[in-house]
Amino acid sequence: MSVRALVVDPTAPAAVRLAAVCDPTPGPGQVLVAVSHASLNYGDLNDARSGRVPEGAVLGSDSAGVVVQAAADGSGPAVGTRVVALTSGAFAERVAIDVGALAEVPKALDLARAVALPVAGVAALRSLRAAGLGPDKTVLVTGASGGVGRFAVQLAARAGAHVIASVGSAARGKGLAEAGADDVLIGLEGLRRPVDVVIDSVGGPQLVAAWNLLSPGGSVQSVGWTSGEAAVFPPYATVGPAKSLTSFVIEGDVGADLAVLTELAAEGALTVEIGWQGSWDRFNEASRALRERRVSGKAILTVA
Ligand SMILES: NC(=O)c1ccc[n+]([C@@H]2O[C@H](COP(=O)([O-])OP(=O)(O)OC[C@H]3O[C@@H](n4cnc5c(N)ncnc54)[C@H](OP(=O)(O)O)[C@@H]3O)[C@@H](O)[C@H]2O)c1
Repeated sequence: MSVRALVVDPTAPAAVRLAAVCDPTPGPGQVLVAVSHASLNYGDLNDARSGRVPEGAVLGSDSAGVVVQAAADGSGPAVGTRVVALTSGAFAERVAIDVGALAEVPKALDLARAVALPVAGVAALRSLRAAGLGPDKTVLVTGASGGVGRFAVQLAARAGAHVIASVGSAARGKGLAEAGADDVLIGLEGLRRPVDVVIDSVGGPQLVAAWNLLSPGGSVQSVGWTSGEAAVFPPYATVGPAKSLTSFVIEGDVGADLAVLTELAAEGALTVEIGWQGSWDRFNEASRALRERRVSGKAILTVA
């Protein structure tokens, strides 16, 4: 039997096409999920072109749906449970998922919102945690209009931090004050106040500027690099009182963190902004909108 999926095809316009692939066979610690929603991440666009996901393989990391086969080892959720997961090969009608990679979705949260949480939400939560977030800290979030950025702004504000959100234009800053940002800035020019934590998804000259604003003891978490530009540190920029620039990647089981995020979203304590939603037949359109910085928050694909 086969299922439909979005697979990598370097000759296709967005390097992705809908194709029939083998129905997955779950391992002993995996459930089989009938996927109804997926979310598109900036990383997926890179993965489709970089060779990290090979030609013919299923793309995607975020999927949500209903368990149609429980794990053979007795772990994880029962048949009929609504779940959200961070898993490779997420963009398929049916996906076999490790029980440690998923969380049950509370009744009050719809799957279109839940599916926005895995990559972007876990990256925001874990990078803030790694930076040692606490009350009275000043946190700068770059690329704040995007998926990781909007969640980072909200989670930092919830923790009692003073939050500075940096965006590309006034229009891109819409909704960030309501999300908890104390200041919304275009770029970083004009920012003089020292910051304790930087969650950076832009890289390039903004990363250098953010480093220069960092207080002694502070931490920059390098989460992404959407600018695609080089970061050139002037001589002696890294000499002085100790502060750190740390690389970041999501590793290991995310189930527990996903459960925290789904609970917050279900309670209304974490808002999921959906800037683009449509059928996965329209993948090229979604991909263009994300690359051209026209999506506020998350792009959601419905798996028809
Ligand atoms: N390390 C990890 O585990 C991990 C996890 C998640 C994401 N990431 C990475 O984090 C980055 C952000 O991911 P995302 O899903 O939040 O992406 P996103 O939703 O597309 O948001 C990225 C934001 O970056 C800004 N941006 C885009 N192109 C830019 C450019 N050329 N120059 C300056 N700013 C630009 C945009 O804001 P404005 O239009 O307002 O400027 C956009 O809102 C990506 O590089 C992604 O690969 C890494």
